[in-house]
Amino acid sequence: MSGRLAGKHALVTGAAQGLGAATARAMAREGANVLLTDRNGDGVASVANDINAEFGAGTAFHARHDVTSEAVWAAVIEQAREDLGGLSVLVNNAGIVLTGSVEDFTLDEWRHGMAVNNDSVFLGTKQALPLMREHQPGSIINISSIAGLIASHNFANYNASKAAVWLLSKSIALHCARQGWDIRCNSVHPTFIRTPILNDLVGDRDEATILAKLAKQVPLGRLGEADDVAHAAVYLASDESRFMTGAEIKLDGGISAM
Ligand SMILES: NC(=O)c1ccc[n+]([C@@H]2O[C@H](COP(=O)([O-])OP(=O)(O)OC[C@H]3O[C@@H](n4cnc5c(N)ncnc54)[C@H](O)[C@@H]3O)[C@@H](O)[C@H]2O)c1
Repeated sequence: MSGRLAGKHALVTGAAQGLGAATARAMAREGANVLLTDRNGDGVASVANDINAEFGAGTAFHARHDVTSEAVWAAVIEQAREDLGGLSVLVNNAGIVLTGSVEDFTLDEWRHGMAVNNDSVFLGTKQALPLMREHQPGSIINISSIAGLIASHNFANYNASKAAVWLLSKSIALHCARQGWDIRCNSVHPTFIRTPILNDLVGDRDEATILAKLAKQVPLGRLGEADDVAHAAVYLASDESRFMTGAEIKLDGGISAM
């Protein structure tokens, strides 16, 4: 198998749709074998089947996976060992948006958002590192958000959870470096990209109008596309980024430069 990720074994969470599905497909295209996981078991099976149809049987595997469960993480890492033959790339992508100001959430709702977006990165990294150490060089890619760096009045939970992912990624990077492991960790910070995660934001308003409004806030004048994230993830997974760790890639069309 040739390609920029030939010989790499990748696990992508939240891969039933959106950015996770695009990232898994891009990694398969570049020669990795990929374990796609999601709480939506049927959805992730369908994406994995499509990848196998396109790139050959045995390229993609799938698992139903709630990223907030440590027990399920342990089972998924074991599946990576068996199905992929190891683990060299972990993409912590699964996430949710809960909109609301700091006054809008119950404590249970708050904890749920933090669990899906941030506890998942802690659990996944902790469970994956022992296997990743056996397959160096390795790369952990955490999908944060530009909302992890820039706040909004009605994104209290999302801002807090994604900001936590940003600094957790740096701590993981420094831990691995200190241990002398060739395992890097970086975060990715996209701005709005039209995936189902924006459904609540659009609500029952006219989608084209809302998306045009969002695009107006972006210096490049357009929203991102799923492949913008997939391309960055392929770079971070590949040895081309071998000197990059504890860093962040902003995919925001220039928003944070203002
Ligand atoms: N699309 C955007 O505008 C955008 C911008 C910045 C960051 N992000 C981040 O990118 C990541 C992917 O977002 P997306 O746009 O593809 O969203 P999406 O809603 O299309 O996909 C998210 C996937 O995560 C899965 N998921 C949710 N909770 C889960 C759980 N507890 N366990 C396992 N899987 C779970 C969903 O089933 C879904 O398949 C998220 O972390 C999101 O915060 C998205």
